Amino acid sequence: MEHFAVVQSIIRAGLVGDREALDKQVLRLRERLEKAGESKEAATLERLRAAARDTQEMAPSRVEMSRGQVVGEVLEPGVNPPIDRETGARLCTINFPGGNGRAPVHATVVFETVEGLLGEWTNQSALQAVGVSPTRSLLIYGPPGSGKTVTAHYIAARLGLPLITARIDGLISSFLGTTARNIANLFDFANRYACVLLLDEFDALAKLRDDPQEIGEIKRVVNTLLQNLDLRRSVGITIAITNHDRLLDPAVWRRFETQLHLGEPDENARETLIARFLQPIDAPGSTLRVFSYCLAGRTGADIERVCTAVKRTLALSGESHDGPGLFHALSSVLARTPHHDNVPARILAADQEAFVSLIANDGALSLKQTEIGEATGYGQSRVSDLKKSKRHLPLVEASYAQ
Ligand SMILES: Nc1ncnc2c1ncn2[C@@H]1O[C@H](COP(=O)(O)OP(=O)(O)OP(=O)(O)O)[C@@H](O)[C@H]1O
Ligand SMILES: [Mg+2]
Repeated sequence: MEHFAVVQSIIRAGLVGDREALDKQVLRLRERLEKAGESKEAATLERLRAAARDTQEMAPSRVEMSRGQVVGEVLEPGVNPPIDRETGARLCTINFPGGNGRAPVHATVVFETVEGLLGEWTNQSALQAVGVSPTRSLLIYGPPGSGKTVTAHYIAARLGLPLITARIDGLISSFLGTTARNIANLFDFANRYACVLLLDEFDALAKLRDDPQEIGEIKRVVNTLLQNLDLRRSVGITIAITNHDRLLDPAVWRRFETQLHLGEPDENARETLIARFLQPIDAPGSTLRVFSYCLAGRTGADIERVCTAVKRTLALSGESHDGPGLFHALSSVLARTPHHDNVPARILAADQEAFVSLIANDGALSLKQTEIGEATGYGQSRVSDLKKSKRHLPLVEASYAQ
Protein backbone atom coordinates (compact mmCIF):
# COMPACT_ATOMS: atom_id res chain seq x y z
CA MET A 1 0.00 0.00 0.00
CA GLU A 2 1.30 3.39 -1.02
CA HIS A 3 2.01 5.88 1.79
CA PHE A 4 1.72 3.09 4.37
CA ALA A 5 4.61 4.44 6.44
CA VAL A 6 2.81 7.77 6.94
CA VAL A 7 -0.52 6.08 7.64
CA GLN A 8 1.25 4.00 10.27
CA SER A 9 2.68 7.14 11.90
CA ILE A 10 -0.80 8.71 11.88
CA ILE A 11 -2.25 5.67 13.65
CA ARG A 12 0.55 5.67 16.17
CA ALA A 13 0.06 9.36 17.00
CA GLY A 14 -3.71 8.87 17.20
CA LEU A 15 -3.43 5.89 19.54
CA VAL A 16 -1.23 7.72 22.02
CA GLY A 17 -3.35 10.85 21.73
CA ASP A 18 -0.53 13.11 20.56
CA ARG A 19 -2.47 15.80 18.70
CA GLU A 20 0.55 17.72 17.51
CA ALA A 21 2.28 14.65 16.04
CA LEU A 22 -1.02 13.57 14.52
CA ASP A 23 -1.46 16.90 12.76
CA LYS A 24 2.14 16.82 11.53
CA GLN A 25 1.70 13.35 10.04
CA VAL A 26 -1.61 14.25 8.41
CA LEU A 27 0.15 17.23 6.86
CA ARG A 28 2.90 14.90 5.61
CA LEU A 29 0.33 12.61 4.02
CA ARG A 30 -1.39 15.58 2.42
CA GLU A 31 1.90 16.72 0.88
CA ARG A 32 2.62 13.24 -0.46
CA LEU A 33 -0.85 13.01 -1.99
CA GLU A 34 -0.39 16.41 -3.58
CA LYS A 35 2.94 15.35 -5.07
CA ALA A 36 1.33 12.19 -6.42
CA GLY A 37 -1.32 14.33 -8.17
CA GLU A 38 -4.14 13.21 -5.89
CA SER A 39 -5.24 16.75 -5.22
CA LYS A 40 -8.84 15.98 -4.33
CA GLU A 41 -7.79 13.61 -1.55
CA ALA A 42 -5.17 16.13 -0.41
CA ALA A 43 -7.81 18.86 -0.28
CA THR A 44 -10.11 16.59 1.75
CA LEU A 45 -7.36 16.07 4.31
CA GLU A 46 -6.77 19.82 4.50
CA ARG A 47 -10.46 20.40 5.11
CA LEU A 48 -10.46 17.83 7.90
CA ARG A 49 -7.48 19.57 9.49
CA ALA A 50 -9.20 22.96 9.26
CA ALA A 51 -12.43 21.55 10.70
CA ALA A 52 -10.53 19.96 13.60
CA ARG A 53 -8.79 23.26 14.30
CA ASP A 54 -12.13 25.00 14.26
CA THR A 55 -13.81 22.62 16.74
CA GLN A 56 -10.82 22.82 19.06
CA GLU A 57 -11.20 26.57 18.99
CA MET A 58 -14.95 26.32 19.56
CA ALA A 59 -14.56 25.35 23.15
CA PRO A 60 -12.05 27.87 24.45
CA SER A 61 -10.20 26.09 27.19
CA ARG A 62 -9.74 28.31 30.18
CA VAL A 63 -6.19 29.12 31.12
CA GLU A 64 -5.42 28.20 34.70
CA MET A 65 -4.56 31.51 36.29
CA SER A 66 -2.07 31.65 39.06
CA ARG A 67 -3.71 32.68 42.31
CA GLY A 68 -3.40 36.22 43.49
CA GLN A 69 -3.08 37.58 39.97
CA VAL A 70 -6.51 39.10 39.84
CA VAL A 71 -7.85 40.45 43.07
CA GLY A 72 -11.37 41.49 43.93
CA GLU A 73 -14.78 40.21 44.83
CA VAL A 74 -16.60 37.72 42.67
CA LEU A 75 -18.94 39.60 40.35
CA GLU A 76 -22.38 37.98 40.66
CA PRO A 77 -25.07 38.28 37.94
CA GLY A 78 -27.35 40.29 40.25
CA VAL A 79 -24.89 43.18 40.69
CA ASN A 80 -26.11 46.48 39.20
CA PRO A 81 -23.68 48.43 37.03
CA PRO A 82 -22.97 52.08 37.95
CA ILE A 83 -25.09 54.75 36.28
CA ASP A 84 -24.77 58.34 35.08
CA ARG A 85 -26.33 60.40 37.85
CA GLU A 86 -27.96 62.95 35.55
CA THR A 87 -29.42 60.61 32.95
CA GLY A 88 -29.61 57.30 34.81
CA ALA A 89 -27.87 55.60 31.86
CA ARG A 90 -25.72 52.58 32.63
CA LEU A 91 -22.02 53.22 32.37
CA CYS A 92 -21.17 49.68 31.32
CA THR A 93 -22.51 46.27 30.41
CA ILE A 94 -21.43 43.04 32.07
CA ASN A 95 -20.81 39.72 30.30
CA PHE A 96 -20.15 36.55 32.17
CA PRO A 97 -17.77 33.92 30.77
CA GLY A 98 -19.08 30.82 29.09
CA GLY A 99 -21.07 30.17 25.94
CA ASN A 100 -19.19 32.96 24.25
CA GLY A 101 -18.81 31.19 20.94
CA ARG A 102 -15.81 30.45 18.87
CA ALA A 103 -12.28 31.69 18.90
CA PRO A 104 -11.58 34.55 16.51
CA VAL A 105 -9.46 33.64 13.51
CA HIS A 106 -6.37 35.74 12.92
CA ALA A 107 -3.11 35.76 11.03
CA THR A 108 -0.45 33.63 12.75
CA VAL A 109 1.38 36.58 14.26
CA VAL A 110 -1.80 37.89 15.94
CA PHE A 111 -2.78 34.41 17.11
CA GLU A 112 0.64 33.99 18.69
CA THR A 113 0.47 37.37 20.45
CA VAL A 114 -2.91 36.52 21.99
CA GLU A 115 -1.81 33.04 23.05
CA GLY A 116 1.42 34.53 24.39
CA LEU A 117 -0.55 36.96 26.58
CA LEU A 118 -2.74 34.15 27.89
CA GLY A 119 0.38 32.05 28.47
CA GLU A 120 1.81 34.77 30.73
CA TRP A 121 -1.06 34.15 33.14
CA THR A 122 -0.20 30.50 33.49
CA ASN A 123 3.52 31.05 33.91
CA GLN A 124 3.57 33.62 36.62
CA SER A 125 6.48 32.00 38.47
CA ALA A 126 8.67 31.99 35.36
CA LEU A 127 7.94 35.70 34.92
CA GLN A 128 8.57 36.41 38.58
CA ALA A 129 12.01 34.82 38.31
CA VAL A 130 13.00 37.67 36.00
CA GLY A 131 11.17 40.28 38.03
CA VAL A 132 8.17 40.92 35.76
CA SER A 133 4.44 40.28 36.02
CA PRO A 134 1.90 39.28 33.34
CA THR A 135 0.63 41.96 30.96
CA ARG A 136 -2.33 43.76 32.48
CA SER A 137 -3.14 46.29 29.80
CA LEU A 138 -3.72 45.73 26.12
CA LEU A 139 -4.66 48.14 23.37
CA ILE A 140 -6.31 46.55 20.34
CA TYR A 141 -6.50 48.68 17.20
CA GLY A 142 -7.44 48.14 13.59
CA PRO A 143 -10.12 48.83 10.98
CA PRO A 144 -13.85 48.33 11.66
CA GLY A 145 -14.91 44.71 11.48
CA SER A 146 -11.45 43.23 12.05
CA GLY A 147 -12.58 41.30 15.12
CA LYS A 148 -11.39 43.63 17.89
CA THR A 149 -14.45 43.25 20.09
CA VAL A 150 -14.73 39.48 19.58
CA THR A 151 -11.04 39.13 20.44
CA ALA A 152 -11.47 41.04 23.71
CA HIS A 153 -14.47 38.85 24.61
CA TYR A 154 -12.45 35.77 23.76
CA ILE A 155 -9.55 36.80 26.01
CA ALA A 156 -11.91 37.37 28.95
CA ALA A 157 -13.59 34.00 28.28
CA ARG A 158 -10.23 32.23 28.20
CA LEU A 159 -9.29 33.89 31.48
CA GLY A 160 -12.63 32.78 32.92
CA LEU A 161 -13.37 36.35 34.06
CA PRO A 162 -16.48 38.51 33.62
CA LEU A 163 -16.08 41.33 31.14
CA ILE A 164 -17.13 44.85 32.07
CA THR A 165 -17.58 46.83 28.85
CA ALA A 166 -17.66 50.60 28.88
CA ARG A 167 -18.37 52.54 25.77
CA ILE A 168 -16.48 55.75 26.12
CA ASP A 169 -19.12 57.64 24.17
CA GLY A 170 -21.69 56.42 26.72
CA LEU A 171 -19.58 57.85 29.54
CA ILE A 172 -19.29 61.23 27.92
CA SER A 173 -21.85 63.59 29.34
CA SER A 174 -22.88 67.03 28.20
CA PHE A 175 -22.78 68.19 31.83
CA LEU A 176 -19.54 69.81 32.85
CA GLY A 177 -17.49 67.58 35.12
CA THR A 178 -19.83 64.61 34.83
CA THR A 179 -17.71 62.73 32.30
CA ALA A 180 -14.69 62.65 34.61
CA ARG A 181 -16.92 61.53 37.49
CA ASN A 182 -18.44 58.78 35.33
CA ILE A 183 -15.00 57.48 34.42
CA ALA A 184 -13.91 57.46 38.05
CA ASN A 185 -17.11 55.63 39.08
CA LEU A 186 -16.64 53.08 36.35
CA PHE A 187 -13.05 52.32 37.37
CA ASP A 188 -14.05 52.10 41.05
CA PHE A 189 -16.68 49.55 40.11
CA ALA A 190 -14.29 47.51 37.92
CA ASN A 191 -11.50 47.61 40.51
CA ARG A 192 -13.79 46.20 43.15
CA TYR A 193 -14.36 42.95 41.25
CA ALA A 194 -12.19 40.28 39.64
CA CYS A 195 -12.89 41.08 35.98
CA VAL A 196 -11.52 42.31 32.67
CA LEU A 197 -12.35 45.96 31.98
CA LEU A 198 -12.98 46.70 28.31
CA LEU A 199 -12.90 50.29 27.07
CA ASP A 200 -14.53 49.94 23.65
CA GLU A 201 -14.67 52.76 21.08
CA PHE A 202 -11.79 54.45 22.85
CA ASP A 203 -11.39 56.93 20.00
CA ALA A 204 -14.51 58.80 21.13
CA LEU A 205 -12.10 60.67 23.38
CA ALA A 206 -9.99 61.73 20.45
CA LYS A 207 -13.08 63.01 18.67
CA LEU A 208 -13.86 65.19 21.66
CA ARG A 209 -10.38 66.63 21.56
CA ASP A 210 -10.99 68.04 18.07
CA ASP A 211 -13.74 70.25 19.40
CA PRO A 212 -12.23 73.64 20.47
CA GLN A 213 -15.25 74.24 22.75
CA GLU A 214 -14.28 71.20 24.78
CA ILE A 215 -10.60 71.88 25.47
CA GLY A 216 -10.90 72.36 29.25
CA GLU A 217 -13.26 69.45 29.70
CA ILE A 218 -11.24 67.04 27.60
CA LYS A 219 -8.06 67.82 29.51
CA ARG A 220 -9.86 66.93 32.71
CA VAL A 221 -11.25 63.76 31.17
CA VAL A 222 -7.90 62.59 29.80
CA ASN A 223 -6.22 63.27 33.14
CA THR A 224 -8.87 61.30 35.01
CA LEU A 225 -8.49 58.49 32.56
CA LEU A 226 -4.69 58.39 32.87
CA GLN A 227 -4.84 58.41 36.65
CA ASN A 228 -7.39 55.62 36.69
CA LEU A 229 -5.46 53.53 34.19
CA ASP A 230 -2.35 53.88 36.36
CA LEU A 231 -4.23 52.92 39.52
CA ARG A 232 -5.80 49.93 37.87
CA ARG A 233 -2.44 48.50 36.75
CA SER A 234 -1.88 46.80 40.08
CA VAL A 235 -5.46 45.57 40.39
CA GLY A 236 -6.80 44.08 37.19
CA ILE A 237 -6.71 43.61 33.47
CA THR A 238 -7.74 46.36 31.07
CA ILE A 239 -8.31 46.15 27.32
CA ALA A 240 -8.94 49.26 25.22
CA ILE A 241 -10.12 49.23 21.62
CA THR A 242 -9.81 51.87 18.94
CA ASN A 243 -10.27 52.18 15.19
CA HIS A 244 -8.15 55.30 14.96
CA ASP A 245 -4.91 54.63 16.76
CA ARG A 246 -3.28 57.77 15.39
CA LEU A 247 -5.85 60.02 17.00
CA LEU A 248 -5.13 58.71 20.47
CA ASP A 249 -3.28 60.88 22.91
CA PRO A 250 0.34 59.59 23.08
CA ALA A 251 0.14 59.61 26.87
CA VAL A 252 -2.86 57.27 26.70
CA TRP A 253 -1.10 55.04 24.16
CA ARG A 254 1.91 54.67 26.45
CA ARG A 255 -0.28 53.41 29.30
CA PHE A 256 -0.80 50.10 27.51
CA GLU A 257 1.90 47.49 27.84
CA THR A 258 0.98 45.65 24.65
CA GLN A 259 -0.52 46.98 21.45
CA LEU A 260 -2.15 44.53 19.14
CA HIS A 261 -2.92 45.47 15.55
CA LEU A 262 -5.70 43.54 13.86
CA GLY A 263 -5.79 43.92 10.12
CA GLU A 264 -7.29 41.96 7.29
CA PRO A 265 -6.89 38.20 7.71
CA ASP A 266 -4.09 36.49 5.77
CA GLU A 267 -4.80 33.70 3.28
CA ASN A 268 -4.97 30.88 5.82
CA ALA A 269 -7.15 32.83 8.22
CA ARG A 270 -9.38 33.88 5.32
CA GLU A 271 -9.99 30.28 4.26
CA THR A 272 -10.77 29.24 7.84
CA LEU A 273 -13.21 32.15 8.21
CA ILE A 274 -14.89 31.36 4.88
CA ALA A 275 -15.25 27.66 5.84
CA ARG A 276 -16.74 28.77 9.16
CA PHE A 277 -19.15 31.34 7.77
CA LEU A 278 -20.36 29.04 4.96
CA GLN A 279 -21.36 26.38 7.51
CA PRO A 280 -23.54 24.29 7.51
CA ILE A 281 -22.53 24.07 3.86
CA ASP A 282 -19.34 22.03 3.61
CA ALA A 283 -17.44 23.78 0.83
CA PRO A 284 -14.69 21.87 -0.99
CA GLY A 285 -11.12 23.15 -0.55
CA SER A 286 -11.04 24.46 -4.13
CA THR A 287 -14.12 26.61 -3.42
CA LEU A 288 -12.50 28.01 -0.29
CA ARG A 289 -9.48 29.00 -2.42
CA VAL A 290 -11.70 30.71 -5.00
CA PHE A 291 -13.66 32.60 -2.33
CA SER A 292 -10.45 33.58 -0.58
CA TYR A 293 -8.99 34.82 -3.88
CA CYS A 294 -11.97 37.12 -4.37
CA LEU A 295 -12.11 38.30 -0.76
CA ALA A 296 -8.43 39.18 -0.27
CA GLY A 297 -8.12 42.51 1.51
CA ARG A 298 -11.54 42.23 3.19
CA THR A 299 -12.02 42.18 6.95
CA GLY A 300 -13.55 39.30 8.90
CA ALA A 301 -16.87 41.14 9.15
CA ASP A 302 -16.92 41.69 5.36
CA ILE A 303 -16.21 38.01 4.77
CA GLU A 304 -19.04 37.07 7.11
CA ARG A 305 -21.43 39.41 5.28
CA VAL A 306 -20.50 38.02 1.84
CA CYS A 307 -20.79 34.40 3.02
CA THR A 308 -24.20 35.06 4.58
CA ALA A 309 -25.41 36.71 1.35
CA VAL A 310 -24.05 33.77 -0.66
CA LYS A 311 -25.97 31.27 1.51
CA ARG A 312 -29.18 33.26 1.10
CA THR A 313 -28.73 33.46 -2.66
CA LEU A 314 -27.88 29.78 -2.96
CA ALA A 315 -30.82 28.70 -0.80
CA LEU A 316 -33.28 30.56 -3.02
CA SER A 317 -31.62 29.63 -6.32
CA GLY A 318 -32.51 25.95 -6.02
CA GLU A 319 -28.97 25.02 -7.10
CA SER A 320 -27.13 22.26 -5.31
CA HIS A 321 -25.00 23.13 -2.29
CA ASP A 322 -21.69 22.29 -3.90
CA GLY A 323 -18.75 24.07 -5.56
CA PRO A 324 -20.61 25.25 -8.69
CA GLY A 325 -23.70 26.31 -6.70
CA LEU A 326 -21.54 28.38 -4.36
CA PHE A 327 -19.59 29.79 -7.32
CA HIS A 328 -22.73 31.06 -9.06
CA ALA A 329 -24.07 32.49 -5.81
CA LEU A 330 -20.76 34.28 -5.12
CA SER A 331 -20.78 35.71 -8.61
CA SER A 332 -24.27 37.18 -8.21
CA VAL A 333 -23.54 38.51 -4.72
CA LEU A 334 -20.44 40.28 -6.01
CA ALA A 335 -22.40 41.62 -8.98
CA ARG A 336 -24.94 43.16 -6.60
CA THR A 337 -22.25 44.85 -4.51
CA PRO A 338 -20.24 47.11 -6.81
CA HIS A 339 -16.97 48.94 -6.08
CA HIS A 340 -14.59 46.08 -5.49
CA ASP A 341 -10.96 46.98 -4.92
CA ASN A 342 -10.15 43.38 -5.58
CA VAL A 343 -9.64 42.70 -9.31
CA PRO A 344 -10.68 39.01 -9.25
CA ALA A 345 -13.91 39.97 -7.45
CA ARG A 346 -14.61 42.59 -10.08
CA ILE A 347 -14.05 40.08 -12.88
CA LEU A 348 -16.22 37.40 -11.27
CA ALA A 349 -18.97 39.98 -10.81
CA ALA A 350 -18.82 40.87 -14.51
CA ASP A 351 -18.14 37.62 -16.35
CA GLN A 352 -17.82 34.10 -14.93
CA GLU A 353 -15.97 32.69 -17.96
CA ALA A 354 -13.42 35.48 -17.83
CA PHE A 355 -12.94 34.62 -14.18
CA VAL A 356 -12.29 30.96 -15.04
CA SER A 357 -9.74 32.14 -17.62
CA LEU A 358 -8.13 34.30 -14.89
CA ILE A 359 -7.77 31.53 -12.30
CA ALA A 360 -6.58 29.01 -14.92
CA ASN A 361 -3.80 31.44 -15.88
CA ASP A 362 -2.84 32.64 -12.41
CA GLY A 363 0.20 30.57 -11.43
CA ALA A 364 0.24 32.07 -7.93
CA LEU A 365 -3.16 30.55 -7.21
CA SER A 366 -1.95 27.15 -8.52
CA LEU A 367 -5.36 25.58 -8.90
CA LYS A 368 -5.30 22.49 -11.10
CA GLN A 369 -7.84 22.14 -13.90
CA THR A 370 -9.70 19.43 -11.97
CA GLU A 371 -9.98 21.74 -8.96
CA ILE A 372 -11.20 24.59 -11.15
CA GLY A 373 -13.83 22.18 -12.48
CA GLU A 374 -14.86 21.21 -8.94
CA ALA A 375 -15.11 24.84 -7.85
CA THR A 376 -16.88 26.25 -10.91
CA GLY A 377 -18.70 23.39 -12.65
CA TYR A 378 -16.89 23.93 -15.96
CA GLY A 379 -15.67 20.71 -17.66
CA GLN A 380 -11.97 20.13 -18.19
CA SER A 381 -11.96 20.86 -21.90
CA ARG A 382 -13.93 24.08 -21.39
CA VAL A 383 -11.48 25.15 -18.67
CA SER A 384 -8.64 24.40 -21.04
CA ASP A 385 -10.27 26.44 -23.86
CA LEU A 386 -10.98 29.34 -21.51
CA LYS A 387 -7.39 29.23 -20.28
CA LYS A 388 -6.15 29.60 -23.86
CA SER A 389 -8.69 32.31 -24.66
CA LYS A 390 -7.22 34.65 -21.99
CA ARG A 391 -10.52 36.45 -22.03
CA HIS A 392 -9.84 37.92 -18.62
CA LEU A 393 -7.09 40.20 -19.96
CA PRO A 394 -9.26 43.06 -21.25
CA LEU A 395 -11.10 43.13 -17.91
CA VAL A 396 -7.84 43.18 -15.96
CA GLU A 397 -6.60 46.06 -18.11
CA ALA A 398 -9.89 47.91 -17.69
CA SER A 399 -9.60 47.45 -13.91
CA TYR A 400 -6.20 49.05 -13.78
CA ALA A 401 -7.24 51.86 -16.10
CA GLN A 402 -9.99 52.91 -13.65
N1 LIG B 1 -10.90 37.77 13.08
C1 LIG B 1 -12.16 37.37 13.17
N2 LIG B 1 -12.47 36.12 13.59
C2 LIG B 1 -13.75 35.72 13.67
N3 LIG B 1 -14.81 36.49 13.37
C3 LIG B 1 -14.56 37.74 12.95
C4 LIG B 1 -13.23 38.25 12.84
N4 LIG B 1 -13.29 39.51 12.41
C5 LIG B 1 -14.58 39.81 12.27
N5 LIG B 1 -15.36 38.75 12.59
C6 LIG B 1 -16.82 38.72 12.50
O1 LIG B 1 -17.25 40.05 12.28
C7 LIG B 1 -18.10 40.50 13.32
C8 LIG B 1 -17.62 41.88 13.75
O2 LIG B 1 -16.43 41.75 14.51
P1 LIG B 1 -16.09 42.75 15.70
O3 LIG B 1 -17.33 43.36 16.24
O4 LIG B 1 -15.19 42.07 16.67
O5 LIG B 1 -15.26 43.85 14.88
P2 LIG B 1 -14.60 45.17 15.44
O6 LIG B 1 -13.18 45.15 14.96
O7 LIG B 1 -14.84 45.29 16.90
O8 LIG B 1 -15.41 46.25 14.60
P3 LIG B 1 -15.83 47.77 15.01
O9 LIG B 1 -14.55 48.58 14.92
O10 LIG B 1 -16.80 48.13 13.95
O11 LIG B 1 -16.40 47.73 16.40
C9 LIG B 1 -18.00 39.50 14.44
O12 LIG B 1 -19.24 39.27 15.02
C10 LIG B 1 -17.49 38.24 13.77
O13 LIG B 1 -18.57 37.42 13.40
MG1 LIG C 1 -16.00 46.61 18.03
